Amino acid sequence: MIKVSAPSNIALIKYWGKRDRALNLPLTSSLSITLSSLISEATVEESTGSEDLWDIMGDPSKSQRVLAAARKDLGDHRPLKISIVNHFPSGAGLASSASSMAALALALSQFLGSGEVPLQQIATWSRLGSGSSVRSLLPGYVLWEAGTDPEGKDCLVRQLHPASHLPLSLVVCVVNDQPKHIGSTAAMERCRDTSPIYDGFHQRNDADLQLAQEALVQGDLLTLGRVAEANCLAMHNVMHQAIPPVDYFMPGTHEAIALTRQLRANGVPCFFTIDAGPNVKIFCSPEYQEVVSQACRALPGLVGILEDRLGLSYEELLTK
Ligand code: DP6
Repeated sequence: MIKVSAPSNIALIKYWGKRDRALNLPLTSSLSITLSSLISEATVEESTGSEDLWDIMGDPSKSQRVLAAARKDLGDHRPLKISIVNHFPSGAGLASSASSMAALALALSQFLGSGEVPLQQIATWSRLGSGSSVRSLLPGYVLWEAGTDPEGKDCLVRQLHPASHLPLSLVVCVVNDQPKHIGSTAAMERCRDTSPIYDGFHQRNDADLQLAQEALVQGDLLTLGRVAEANCLAMHNVMHQAIPPVDYFMPGTHEAIALTRQLRANGVPCFFTIDAGPNVKIFCSPEYQEVVSQACRALPGLVGILEDRLGLSYEELLTK
């Protein structure tokens, strides 16, 4: 039996569109931070029956795509028993599909491939479950390169910096912990088909990515935050202009955005980002985590707070 954990990741420069739906190849590159304690755990063992047994929350189709790809590459078709547990709310824009698909792909690489499978190949399996999951395969600041190859041979994931390069803490303002009303795959497609600013969002990707990478090299949290916030709001603008609009924001979302701006105006180095859900992720310098978390607790529109810090070494997360 193999048990593997993988953390969630949060994009600072977002992936919001595909150049190939079947292969789940992104239109543009994205940059993220891999977290530590918001994790999923995948367990893989041989099934005693003649069919696969699944013990996972929700629809197994994403996981089945990951398993099919691993089996195809490794030629091992034993029936398996697979369970995946998320140690944080699922489906609420906290990237549970990223951590769960990464955990599953890693567990399969160890169980079926005896740990000999190269990272980029594991990423290919994981990507078929959920694009953003490939960024959870590495710690720290991670770049997922879109590439141009039709088969995705140059669609690679790599670490830009270890977490220690620019340590950050995360406070998640949980506005709603229920599954989102429309999943990211469907929402992306609606945006592609109907949002007049979908192309514009992808055209700004190069500039945003460059600015974010330069800010990271300089260790400049405020510049990194400025571009991350702008990129996030640009993605949500794309959604708001879709027909019908994809609007994940709730009153608590606006409160948390306003709070982040207020804290920053008061000298707290912090910035927000928001994914396919109403919850607001506030990143800050670790020494300000308590200040940020106290301020968030006072917001009326929240159902809770989650806290994490950036980057244990990845080995610490792997348990067999
Ligand atoms: C808003 O990776 O969930 O979190 O590849 O269709 O499974 P699929 O989409 P998914 O999309 C993540 C979108 C996002 C932005 C990001 O993480 O880059």
